Amino acid sequence: MPQKIIIDTDPGIDDAMALLFAHRAPSIDLVGITTTYGNATIEQTTRNARYLVDRFGLSCPVHMGSGRPLFADPEPPADFVHGSDGLGEAGLVIPELVDDGGDAVAFLIDTLRASPGEITIVAVGRMTNLALALSRAPDVASLAKAVVIMGGALGRGGFGGNVTPCAEANIIGDPHAADRVLRASWPVTMVGLDVTMKTVMTPPRVDELKRRGGETGEFLHAISRFYQAFYTNNHGLEGFAVHDSSAVAYVLAPELFTLEAGGLRVVTEGIAYGQTLLAPAGKRYHLPVWQGLAEQSACVDVDSDGVLDLYMSTLLDG
Ligand code: BDR
Ligand code: CA
Repeated sequence: MPQKIIIDTDPGIDDAMALLFAHRAPSIDLVGITTTYGNATIEQTTRNARYLVDRFGLSCPVHMGSGRPLFADPEPPADFVHGSDGLGEAGLVIPELVDDGGDAVAFLIDTLRASPGEITIVAVGRMTNLALALSRAPDVASLAKAVVIMGGALGRGGFGGNVTPCAEANIIGDPHAADRVLRASWPVTMVGLDVTMKTVMTPPRVDELKRRGGETGEFLHAISRFYQAFYTNNHGLEGFAVHDSSAVAYVLAPELFTLEAGGLRVVTEGIAYGQTLLAPAGKRYHLPVWQGLAEQSACVDVDSDGVLDLYMSTLLDG
């Protein structure tokens, strides 16, 4: 039986790569896409999600989500990473939004209620929609099979943050929402920079996607030029980090990842705003903010070649 997933996403170049990865994986049934903001505005990410669905035949609905954080002021879109259209300024003709598909939060709640224990949510953007779903319908925490997030960092392998020294973009974009999601009683696995920065898609692999991957491969090559330039200029990397697709890879092949268990929290004020912290399972802390936390998991290491090979084989042979 394929695993049913909803992807909550802000396409976004690596989001698009993750959506097409999930679409092509035979063991995944993508039942819906909910959109969030960050890499571009909510209108643009929703347009982009709809474009991907229409062009590549993803047979699932797209629902537009919240366009701003729970409490903080929204930051400008990360157009310096993903381009002004969020998809790498590759000359795509992306239609205007005629219908936004309705309320993403209602879709999340209704779908989880309709299939208790069956749906995994893969959240690869700001977690505002998930936090709103928890507030509006607290029962959803007991209805999701699992929640896999791309976001955060624990500082393993030198990766503490990509927006500040200790904060990752999806978390700092709405830290209050992320804290709510990580503390909820649904089982969360955090796929953070600790593993995604170690998983680098190199030019030969992207060239192979272009050569052998048909229209999808050519598209992935085209949109990733902008992303590659950002990684070269800002990180000196020959290749780019595989962020959002690593969360999909975790759903497909969790054995490629090393996990640590514990309570997860997010710093919501001060100089470490947006930092994710893990309280190791079995350790007791006496301050109330560290008590009674759900036991979650965080990826602390990865078989990077295994993830990259899985991506390639899914796109090329699937
Ligand atoms: C995350 O931020 C976004 O730019 C990417 O799409 C990814 O989800 C990486 O920090
Ligand atoms: Ca993303």
